[in-house]
Amino acid sequence: MDTAADILNSNLSSQISGLSIQDSLHLFTELYPGQVCFSTSFSIEDQVILHHIAAENLPVHIFTLDTGRLFSETHSVWTATREKYHIPIHTYMPDTSRLEKYVNQKGPNAFYESVENRKECCFIRKVEPLKRALTGQKVWVTGIRAGHSGNRSQLNLLEWDEDNQLNKYNPLLHWTHEAVRNYISENDVPYNILHDRGFVSIGCQPCTRAIRPGEEFRAGRWWWEEADKKECGLHSK
Ligand code: ADX
Ligand code: SF4
Repeated sequence: MDTAADILNSNLSSQISGLSIQDSLHLFTELYPGQVCFSTSFSIEDQVILHHIAAENLPVHIFTLDTGRLFSETHSVWTATREKYHIPIHTYMPDTSRLEKYVNQKGPNAFYESVENRKECCFIRKVEPLKRALTGQKVWVTGIRAGHSGNRSQLNLLEWDEDNQLNKYNPLLHWTHEAVRNYISENDVPYNILHDRGFVSIGCQPCTRAIRPGEEFRAGRWWWEEADKKECGLHSK
């Protein structure tokens, strides 16, 4: 039998089918005032979404998770975004005492030593702050695309997120990388300069490298680990 969450999700899914990104966001913010949020890593996809939100000054809580290990280029595009759009971007930082304990016990680069250490670092620097950011929210907007990975190709525009008990909206799910790049250049949207240097999926500096022609989109993330372990816990699927 369908749960109340399934029914709600399928009603919402049919309401947004055929709607533009902006109209979908309008609908969500009318249905759930003050409870629609958007997470940005300042990726090229996230910049497209931010541009849509800013263009209509939609009441969406925009936030980023500053892990403390981001590229300086990511901080540069964050700064350029603040200067261009003048909209609030809330920052969530890792819990200081948890992080100090981890680094004091295991060292600053322990994530290279084991998958467990890597996941613990991701938990402290990303997942726990994300949980705080999502508290009380009903809709979580992300820049996930189907082309990112096999797992992500199975997703829907609107997904019920069991872990976080909210609807996850992936407006660019069916966009190609080229479509994203074209949108950025046609609309003069600031983007991370690393995208011009072979980086496609960009996370923390020590855990991201550029990819070579022919490599998969996420090959540069945690490249020393096996492909099936390459998630940090932000997205369960
Ligand atoms: S991850 O799970 O591998 O780190 P990915 O980099 O593909 O995620 O990004 C997918 C989406 O997750 C982004 O579009 C964004 O919505 C969210 N996200 C990832 N990293 C962050 C971050 N540091 N801060 C805020 N949102 C993030
Ligand atoms: Fe830590 Fe690397 Fe995960 Fe960033 S991506 S939180 S540095 S393990």
